[in-house]
This record gives sequence, C-alpha cells and structure tokens, in this order.
Amino acid sequence: MDKIQVFCTVIFFSSVFGVTFEKYPGEEKHDVGSLEGDVQNWAVLIENYILQLAYDGINQHHTQGYLDQASYMSDTKNGEDIVKVVKDNLANYFEQKKKAAERLVEKVQQLHDKFLSPNESAGVDQLSQLPQEVYADSDIPERLPNERNFNPYFKQQVSWDQSTVKIADEVPRDDMSTINTTYFTAGLDTLFKENQKIDPTLRWQYFGSIAGIVRIYPGREWSTNFAGFYNDYDPRVRPWYIAATSGPKDVIIILDCSYSMRGEKFSIAKGVAKTVINTLTKMDYVNVICARASYWDEVGKEHIWDAFDQVK
Ligand SMILES: *[C@@H]1O[C@H](CO)[C@@H](O)[C@H](O)[C@H]1NC(C)=O
Ligand SMILES: *[C@@H]1O[C@H](CO)[C@@H](O)[C@H](O)[C@H]1NC(C)=O
Repeated sequence: MDKIQVFCTVIFFSSVFGVTFEKYPGEEKHDVGSLEGDVQNWAVLIENYILQLAYDGINQHHTQGYLDQASYMSDTKNGEDIVKVVKDNLANYFEQKKKAAERLVEKVQQLHDKFLSPNESAGVDQLSQLPQEVYADSDIPERLPNERNFNPYFKQQVSWDQSTVKIADEVPRDDMSTINTTYFTAGLDTLFKENQKIDPTLRWQYFGSIAGIVRIYPGREWSTNFAGFYNDYDPRVRPWYIAATSGPKDVIIILDCSYSMRGEKFSIAKGVAKTVINTLTKMDYVNVICARASYWDEVGKEHIWDAFDQVK
C-alpha cells in the first residue's frame, strides 16, 4: 500500500499548495545517487509534471480565480476507508487480469495437445495458403482483418473479429513450425473474445510462442519505423517471456573496453549488452564489468586480461 499512499500524497500536495507558488517549487536538487535523494528528485519531477499539466491543461492561473470565489464547507473523510476502497478496487483489477491470463494458458495447452493428435494438421505447406480466419498478419496489409476501427482505448485501429499474428523478422514465414503455430493458436480467438466480455478493461491479450510468433487480440496492424517498415518484435526476447521460461537470474556482462574495441565494435558490444539487459526483470540481478586492459608488470611480463578470471 505504501506506493499508493505516496502517490496520493504527491497529488494532494501539488493541488493544494501548488497554486501559491509563482515558480515551480522543488527547484532544489537532492543528492543524486543515494536512494533517498533519487526518490526525492523523482517525486519533484512528477510534481513538476503535474503542475505543468495543471497550468497548460486547465489554465490553472484563470481557474484559480473561480475557485477562490466559491464557498466552501468542511467535511471529514476517513483516510483508512478511502485506502481500503482503493485497495479493494486495485486487488480486484489485478485479480481479473490474472484470471484472464490463466484461462489463456489453459486454453493454449489444450489447443497444443489437440494439435499433436495424429489426425490433426495445418494441411498446407505455405503460410499464405492458410485461410484468412486462421491467419491474419499484422505485417501484411492485404492480410489484416477487414473490419478495423479506431479505438481510443487502444489508440489505433483494431479488429474485434480476429486476432493477428506478428512474426519476428528472423523467423521464416513458410517454416512448418510457423505454419503449425499460426494454425493451432487460431483457436484462441474464442477465448480472447470471452475474456474481453468478462472484463472490458482488458487491453492487449497475447500469446508468445517459442517459434518467435505472437498472436495478439484485438487484431492490429504493427507499428512502423521512420522509414515506414514494420518494427521487429520477437516475443522470445521480451522480459515477460524470459521470466516465464527461465525464472530469476544472476547475470554478469563483461564488456571488452580495451582500445582495440573502439568505434563500431564497441557500439555493437553495447547494443548486445543492452539487448540482454532489456530481457531482465526486477527478479534478476545484473552487473556490467568493463574489462579494460592487459598490462606489463615490473619485470616486463605481459598479463593478458582474462575476462573469465574476473568471474571466478
Ligand atoms: C481427430 O481425432 C480425435 C480423437 O482422437 C477426434 O476427437 C477429432 O474429431 C478428430 N479430428 C478430425 C479433424 O478428424
Ligand atoms: C507440424 O505439424 C505436423 C503435424 O500436423 C507435424 O508432423 C510436424 O512435425 C510439425 N512440424 C513442426 C516443425 O512443428
């Protein structure tokens, strides 16, 4: 509950006292690097965002005049009751999401097992031969679900009729595993729709497969980069996928920071390290070591930097 209380306090503070300052309060900086200082700086940042929002969004400097003219009466609220209501609402909110996810897990297992029975097959050897109701593709405009409408909740066009599949760039579309996975996961659509009916506040529902495919509901066209190409997305390197398949980890990344790595090589190394770090979750521990140099000792013997030695 601590987080919620802190957040409420921040909002309360800014709405009550914010108006009395000409400039934004909290210009003072707290110690960077200490936990307490970082949290204080972070709170100041949020506070300033909220004040700026109030200023830009609701013309706080004008509205304050009206508020000052209103007549007020006092009313006592029980903080504990309010916290309890918030707590119950949140608990219920997350419980619903969890149940939806559990139903998906169960369904996908059923579909997978059913597909393994001897008389089941996708019946095609090219992905594009699968019928539209089984295979709509986020990356192929002609293969998108027909009926798509802009939805403010998703901030884009979505299809309630059908889920779409997004296939990672490195996965060949006509591999049997791609075809099989696309085929057997199509059965999820009924459950996606049921889940949505049970809990209309659900957002994206998806299943990420070991084949490098994600099936997502409601169906959508994928986002594009500045050049108009569809962005890559591989569920197998997402933190939720790695967390579910491997559990908590201790990771040490050793970068060769020596002179020989300068320029492009080091950019690539950093890119790889970032990719690894992006797969981690709050359950994991990570350290990055910069292995810098080999050296000659006082009698002229060369000591080669041995990264493995550092791990031991
Ligand atoms: C495949 O076999 C199972 C029983 O093993 C049966 O329930 C199912 O209807 C069969 N499917 C087809 C497409 O024939
Ligand atoms: C795809 O499914 C068929 C059965 O329909 C099976 O024989 C084949 O081994 C599967 N291939 C892969 C790569 O999963």
